[in-house]
Amino acid sequence: MADNADYKLWGGRFTEPTHALMERLNASIGFDKRLYAQDIAASQAHAAMLGRQGIISQEDAAAIVQGLGQVLTEIEAGQIQWRAGLEDIHTHVEARLKEIIGEPAGRLHTARSRNDQVATDLRLWVMEACRHLDQGLLLYQRALVTLAEAHDQVIMPGYTHLQRAQPVLLAHHLLAYVEMAGRDRQRLADCHRRAAVLPLGAAALAGTTYSVDPASVAAQLGFTGVCANSLDAVSDRDFAAELLFALTLTQVHLSRLAEELILWSTSEFGFVRLSDAFSTGSSIMPQKKNPDAAELIRGKTGRVLGHLVAMLTVLKGLPLAYNKDLQEDKEPVFDAVDTVLDCLKVLAPMLETLEVRPGAMASAVKGGFLNATELADYLAAKGVPFRQAHEIAGRAVRLAESGQRALEELSISEYKGLSSVIEEDVFEVLKPEHAVNRRQSPGGTAGVTVRAALKEARKRLWPPSA
Ligand code: ARG
Repeated sequence: MADNADYKLWGGRFTEPTHALMERLNASIGFDKRLYAQDIAASQAHAAMLGRQGIISQEDAAAIVQGLGQVLTEIEAGQIQWRAGLEDIHTHVEARLKEIIGEPAGRLHTARSRNDQVATDLRLWVMEACRHLDQGLLLYQRALVTLAEAHDQVIMPGYTHLQRAQPVLLAHHLLAYVEMAGRDRQRLADCHRRAAVLPLGAAALAGTTYSVDPASVAAQLGFTGVCANSLDAVSDRDFAAELLFALTLTQVHLSRLAEELILWSTSEFGFVRLSDAFSTGSSIMPQKKNPDAAELIRGKTGRVLGHLVAMLTVLKGLPLAYNKDLQEDKEPVFDAVDTVLDCLKVLAPMLETLEVRPGAMASAVKGGFLNATELADYLAAKGVPFRQAHEIAGRAVRLAESGQRALEELSISEYKGLSSVIEEDVFEVLKPEHAVNRRQSPGGTAGVTVRAALKEARKRLWPPSA
């Protein structure tokens, strides 16, 4: 890059140089260089429109579009040297364009301001991020469904208050996370929809005197509409806040799964074994195998939520229209997207390599009186009022507990002693499979219901290749 270290987009009215500390505080190139592809695409569309509208000559427009193409190539080849003195990505691109094509470069910024430019770039970046995130969530959902299918008969304790409650299918439990991820994908689609509105044409804040055609620029760039109010166009960052909320909730969901994997992999639970590839050891305790990947996924939730809070705090109290505070919108967005994508990418293979231990789950099901509800329902079905049935089942639990037995280990005469309506068929009812399979209500844990849900998920998440 030739010497353009002093290239400024705004030097005209200044007589003194920028203070070095101001230059450092002001510079956003350190992070907004990530917008280079969006910045160049948007500038190419803008220049082409200026040419079509006769605002600049077709020759200049063509030279700009071509020159920007070269800038893109150079950036991707790592040939551009980023300089704090050149402030931001917009300045870098324009400065390099000027070196390549000379005078026509000065016409690119006609009918445009960095205010509508940066809003356009970030919206484009967010739109693309939504697509990547959707793909990451899809692969995560597929990993959950694949794991569920591989263990579609496995029964585990279902919990409330983290106390063993009723038996459920492991597949049912995993499908709950597929649902969460499905809602996360809907939120991202919604965020994409509102991000896909073009700010260009708003210029600095009030619109422009040139006869621009933003609709054609929108169509070229993949926007579905044009901002209806120029002040809003340059100052709105709702799309960034929405993305950050969608990401925070996504990360909260991942964190909940991570927490379960951590619990389940303890010696106390022993329900699963995490692959060595996603665990670490201890430098002092040789026996340790720590679920670090899951812990980091849980831990990074604070950071993503922090970015949402940062974004909303930046927006709070900002007068219309553009304010430099808005430059603080980018790092939270970039880091939240990176973080969630990384976590999704790790979770998929973590689930693929997860070793499920049905035996440990089965003994936990056995040990927790999870069939007490079944016993109460059984009595109620024989005409005992439910309140009384609940009481009798409670006494059965007490009796079994005193002898460290399970409900199915009480004898028929012991049961007869508790209630004369109890017959031999009670032992069938007390089996965990029975408890699971009777729950055929919509969305329940019965084998038939869950297998239908799995089938439906497979159809939905693996559509015949489009
Ligand atoms: N780097 C700035 C940002 O990210 C670009 C817009 C600057 N606009 C201005 N009027 N100084 O917001």
